[in-house]
Parts: sequence; C-alpha cells; structure tokens
Amino acid sequence: MRTATSKIDRHGAESLRDEGSELRFPPLPEIPRARYLDASLFDAEIDKVFRRSWLAVGHVSEYKSEGSYRLLDIPFAPVVVVKGKDGKLRAFLNTCRHRAATVLKEKEGCVKTLSCQYHGWTYDLAGKLIGVTSPESFADLDFEAHSLVSLRCELWGGFVFINFDPEALPLLDWLAPLADRYASMVVPDPDKPLRIAAKMSWEVNCNWKAMAENFAESYHVEYIHSETVTKMVDASRGDYHLYPGAHGTFVNYYIPKDEIAWEGSTATVADRLPEMPGMTDPKFDAAAYSNLCFPNSFFNFLKSGHNLIQIWPHDVDHCRLDLTLFGVDWGDGPRPAEWEAICAGYEVVELEDISCMSSIQQSLRADPDRGVPFGAREALLYQMHAEIDRLVGSKNIASRLRVPDIDLLNKFIVD
Ligand code: FES
Ligand SMILES: [Fe+2]
Repeated sequence: MRTATSKIDRHGAESLRDEGSELRFPPLPEIPRARYLDASLFDAEIDKVFRRSWLAVGHVSEYKSEGSYRLLDIPFAPVVVVKGKDGKLRAFLNTCRHRAATVLKEKEGCVKTLSCQYHGWTYDLAGKLIGVTSPESFADLDFEAHSLVSLRCELWGGFVFINFDPEALPLLDWLAPLADRYASMVVPDPDKPLRIAAKMSWEVNCNWKAMAENFAESYHVEYIHSETVTKMVDASRGDYHLYPGAHGTFVNYYIPKDEIAWEGSTATVADRLPEMPGMTDPKFDAAAYSNLCFPNSFFNFLKSGHNLIQIWPHDVDHCRLDLTLFGVDWGDGPRPAEWEAICAGYEVVELEDISCMSSIQQSLRADPDRGVPFGAREALLYQMHAEIDRLVGSKNIASRLRVPDIDLLNKFIVD
C-alpha cells in the first residue's frame, strides 16, 4: 500500500537542507539492532517487500534482438527476461511447468524458443507452452494452463523493472514523483544510446539493510571516503528529499573542479566523455543526485555516466552488491580509456564501504539488544525501515523488532 502523505510546499521541501541548525528533520527514535538479525523478519521482507516491490533489473540495451534473454541473479527466485517477437520485454519464472527444472541454463543468449533442458518441453518467447516431448503420454494436458509463470515487467525509460506481484501499481505510479523528476535522463535517445561500460559485484557479509543504508546517506563520506569521494564532493552538506513509498533523493554538491584531487573522480573525466542524455541542466554541474528506489535500487545520474546500485538479500547475514555503469555508446572498438580510471575509482570506493560491513554485522550479533540512533542525515534510512514495517504490517512484527513510529517523517514527504 502507498504511504499516506501530507504535502508540504515544494519550496519548503527543496530547502530541507542538512546544514546544522537549518536541518528540519525531527529527532528520530532508535530502531532495534535485532532488525538486522532476525530470520523471521528477513523472511517477511522477502515475501512482503521484495516480492511486492518493483525491482530494477537492467536496461533495454542488454536485449538487442528478438529472442535475446538474460537470467537474473535474484537470490530468492529464478527469473528470465526475454525480448519477444513484438520487441516487448517479458519476465518469467525460469521454471519449467513439468517438473520445475530450470528452463534456460546459460546466463544470457538468444533463442527462438525456450526449451527445457530436462525433458525438452518448449515455450514460445511469450511464455506459452507450445511443445511437449512424447505427447502421447500427456494426452489430456492443458497447454494454456502450463505456460511459464509470468511476472510484471515494465520500463522506466530504458530501465527494466520486474515485480512478482500481479496486483502491483503500474511502475511509473509506484516510482512517482521520482519518475517525473528524472524522466529526461532515462528516456532512450537514438543519438546517444546508452551502453553498459562495466558491471561489478561483491558478496557482502551483512544484512541487506545495512548495505542499502550505506547508499542512502552521505554522512559516512567524509570519513570512510576521506581519500576518495571527499576529494570530489563537499561531504559536509547535502540535501535530502523524501518521496512516497520510501523513495528518496540525496544531493551531494561538488567542490570546485580545479580543486578536485582524485584520479578516480567521475567529475574529472566527465569533460572527456560524451555527455549523457538529459543532463543539460547546469544543476548537474553543481551536484550529484543519488536516487533511492525502495527497497534495493539506487540510481545515480551523472554527466559522465549513470550508475545503478542494487542490493540483493541472500540471508539474514549476507547480501550481494551489484554495480552497473552506463555510458554513451562508443561504437566499435574498446571502451574509451577514461573508463579504466572511473572503474578503478568505483572499485576503491565500494571496497571502502564494504570494509565496514562484516564487522557491523558481527557487532550487531554480539550485542543485539541495543538500539540504532539515526541522525537527521539518516532520515532516508529511517523511512526505509518504516516502509518495511508498513508493507509487512507492524502488527505482524514482534514488538522488540518494530520501528517505533512509522509515520514520524510523513510530513516531510513531497510528491
Ligand atoms: S522439467 Fe522441464 S521438461 Fe521436464
Ligand atoms: Fe560510500
């Protein structure tokens, strides 16, 4: 269900600054450490949050032609996205309707039909069962009723999202107002097609929420990234915007370009790469806009290239961090040399973040009955936890695990 919101005036919202005394977020009650440790809450998060939310899973540029497919590395369900004869992307459980074998095995490819590896049942690109081997043994089989299980699959511009919930709101309604605010950056531009410049992935020894929180605040930047990101942005300040559904934006302002002293800085190489489409507004020269699509996706729109961060829950103590970098397609030949520095920079920064995570999880386990005090710069984190409780239902969560006041920040939500 969508959060009930109380609007405040747009200008007021835009000035929600994280600047000492101007900060307007109220003091936040502590949330229980046990939220990062409890297996039953983890199971509820998979069922009520991940299986009911739109999940960013890639970009249309990954599906070049009819029959192009990719298996998604989602820990709690095998999913395939495939491009149909009509050019439409569709998502299915990659699970045969015979005896549940994985239909497609190779991670990606191009097929005319989806043919099961086990006994050879065959589905068309729209998921319909069209062929059964030894048909005489299945004389009464209802083919219609044994199509692949279809998932919702919709686009935000060129970005692909799936949803396991057939009753979910349409993606763009669910993403609003984020979808409108950043519409120009995601719409495919035939003159500047996007291309994936790099993919990186890390297994991380912590609860998925701890890893996700890392990308929803810039409070940590000044410290853990003192030799990297801090040399590119003024980490002492930032703006935070809360949207319905626990989506949000935080804004990091760049320091003057001639003062940037970090080789891996995207701002340094931006001038040498083609500018990403939809980024002409001068505000993108002044700041980086990081956008949380609840629960687990973060879109950063930068002039030199966008990035998408996804956090995938494995179990209560483990998750995976995926990072995908997008640039303007460079045509034939190797990617421009600037990408080497950018990738190296991202890798260093992500490893700085990840370096904290195992010890966080161990420490929480060692002393689980305390609370986590979030500061005002961590308001998006509080809102994420509140939204989880809304979706799971506070009454279904043991009192020792609940967020104390799930509506506390509603008056700061803008739409
Ligand atoms: S499990 Fe797929 S054909 Fe038997
Ligand atoms: Fe970080």
